[in-house]
Amino acid sequence: MKEVTLEIDGKVVRAKEGMTILQAAKEAGIEIPTLCYHEEMEPYGVCRICVVEIERGGRSRTVASCCYPVEEGLKVRTRTPKIERVRKTILELAAITAGEDVGGEVRALAFQYGANLSRFVSLGLVEPSKCILCGLCVRRCIEAQWDNAIDFVGRGVGRRVALMPGKEEACKTCSYCYRVCPTGRITSFGPNPPFSPP
Ligand code: SF4
Ligand code: FES
Repeated sequence: MKEVTLEIDGKVVRAKEGMTILQAAKEAGIEIPTLCYHEEMEPYGVCRICVVEIERGGRSRTVASCCYPVEEGLKVRTRTPKIERVRKTILELAAITAGEDVGGEVRALAFQYGANLSRFVSLGLVEPSKCILCGLCVRRCIEAQWDNAIDFVGRGVGRRVALMPGKEEACKTCSYCYRVCPTGRITSFGPNPPFSPP
């Protein structure tokens, strides 16, 4: 397969055509944080924590590195002050629905980026649920072939992950989604299954 050469944080990186910036960076030992990405699943591109700055033809813009394919001659910066600010704000906004006591990777990143998880409050009625709607559990459930035992329901601030009616037994015997949740919403402790019906 054809290879392309790009630059990530000043380092010359060779990557296979079709790879994403995130994959190329990982292979080059450059860490970019992710929340809705899992290497065994297709990119979802919803959390935006993986944003990076790209520069081509003298113009720069920000893109989600988990979805953006590598290009010949691309210059990528993963940790500029602007990117650090964006990531910090994303974490602070995620806390509106996730709650201040969110755990897992979100808490670790909040600490790393100095994010204030109580900075924003919602003007609507939002009940913190430790979920950032990253969709990893839902996609994992599809992979487990339980015919969507869990899925998204509702819209806007009411959107959440729920256990589909009649799927309780499937969910009780499967723990396939347990390890992918980046917030501590799904744990192997407590009530099983971890989602309430819609
Ligand atoms: S429960 Fe966890 S894995 Fe599922 S959507 Fe919410 S944050 Fe993502
Ligand atoms: S990890 Fe790229 S958008 Fe979520």
